[in-house]
Amino acid sequence: MKNIHLIAAARPNFMKIAPLYHALSRESWCRASIVHTGQHYDPNMSDAFFRDLAMPKPHFHLEIGSGSHAEQTGGVMMAYEKVAVAEKPDWIVVVGDVNSTAACAMVGAKLWIPVVHLEAGLRSRDRRMPEEINRLVTDAIADVLWTPSRDGDENLLREGVPAERIECIGNIMIDSYEMMRGAIEADATRGGLGLEAGGYGVVTLHRPSNVDTREALAPLVGALLEVSRRVPLVFAVHPRTRKKLQEFGLMERLAGSGTIRVVDPLGYIQFMNLVTGARVVITDSGGVQEETTYLGIPCLTLRENTERPVTVTEGSNRLVQPGALVAALDAVLARPGRAGRIPELWDGHAADRAVASLKRRSGVAA
Ligand code: UD1
Ligand code: UDP
Repeated sequence: MKNIHLIAAARPNFMKIAPLYHALSRESWCRASIVHTGQHYDPNMSDAFFRDLAMPKPHFHLEIGSGSHAEQTGGVMMAYEKVAVAEKPDWIVVVGDVNSTAACAMVGAKLWIPVVHLEAGLRSRDRRMPEEINRLVTDAIADVLWTPSRDGDENLLREGVPAERIECIGNIMIDSYEMMRGAIEADATRGGLGLEAGGYGVVTLHRPSNVDTREALAPLVGALLEVSRRVPLVFAVHPRTRKKLQEFGLMERLAGSGTIRVVDPLGYIQFMNLVTGARVVITDSGGVQEETTYLGIPCLTLRENTERPVTVTEGSNRLVQPGALVAALDAVLARPGRAGRIPELWDGHAADRAVASLKRRSGVAA
C-alpha cells in the first residue's frame, strides 16, 4: 500500500488537491492523506473549501499561520519534516506556487522521498513575484512534474529537466469546477445579492505588487470606482487586501460608493456562482484567470505578466494596466458572447491522468 501525502496550504491549493484526493481514495493500491500546513487559516480561506469540495478534515495540520517569507517557509519545513520522518510517505504531492509548496518539496527532496509537483512549469519570468521563486525552486528539485499546459513542458525542457519527468496532465482546477458544477449552478449567492446574470462584474485582488503599497492600490481603487459606474461590481476582498485598504484609508471610498459591493472572501461554490454569471471579471488571481478562460468569460488581469499565457493566447484573458482598465472594460462591453476557446486537456479529467501517472511510477500493475 503506497502512502501518498497531498500538501495543501492556501486557498488556491484546495481546488487542486480535492479532485486528486477523491480520485486516489477510489484506488486500492494507495492511501492518500491530506497535510494542511495552515498557511491560510480563516474559516473563509480554508474550512469553507474542505466543506465545499467534500474533503475530510486534514489528516495532519501543521498550524503554521502567517509570517515573513522566511518564517513561513522555515516553519513549514521544520514542522513537515517531523511528519515526513514519522510517516515515511512513498510520494509527496505539492501543488501550485505558494511558500508551503517550495518548503515541503525541499523537505521531501532532502529525505529522498519522491516529490511530485502538480501545476509545474508555469513561469511569469518575473522574479519579483514570490511565487516565481517558489516555482523555480520546486521544479528544480521535484522528481515528477505534472504540467497544466504545453507551455509548461517547454519551459521545463528549456531549463534542462529530463523529458521523462514531465507529464502534461491538464488543468485540475477544471476538475474541481466540473465536480461542483451542479452545486454551483444551484447556489443562490447571485440572487441573494440581487444580481442578474450578465449584469455585473466580479473583482478579486491580492498580489503584493497591487495591494501592498498605497501608490499601487489607490489608483486601482480609483479605476474600479470608474468601472463600477458602467457595470456594478462585487469585490470579494482577500484578507491581505482588506488590511491594506484599511491601513491606507481606502475602504470607505470603496464600500461607500454604492456601485461596488464589498464582501468577505467567499466559499468556492458561492464565488463560482458569482463568476459564472459575471459579464466581466477583474482580477490578479492565477486561478481565476484559468476559470474564466474555461467559462469563456472576459477576464481583465491587472498584472504586467502572467505565468498562464494560454489564458491570453487561447482563452478570454487580457493583461491590463490600471490606467487602461476603463478602456478595456468598454471593449468587453462592446463585444457580446463567449470569448476565446478552452485549452487542450482542460477537460475535467486531469486527476485521472495524475492517478495513472502515480500508479505507473509506483510500479503497480495496470
Ligand atoms: C498566498 C500565496 C499566493 C497565493 C495566495 C492565495 C505565498 C508567497 N503567497 O498569498 O501565492 O496567490 O496565498 O490566496 O505563498 N491572512 C489572514 N487570514 C488567512 C490568511 C492570511 O488574515 O487565513 C492575512 C495575514 O495578514 C497574512 C496575509 O493575509 O499576513 C498574507 O497571507 P500569506 O499567506 O502570507 O500570503 P497571501 O497574500 O495570502
Ligand atoms: N476563490 C474563492 N473565493 C473567493 C475568491 C477566489 O473560492 O472569494 C477561488 C477561485 O475560484 C479560485 C481560487 O480561489 O479557484 C483562486 O485563489 P486565489 O486567487 O486566492 O489564489 P491564486 O490562484 O492567485 O494563487
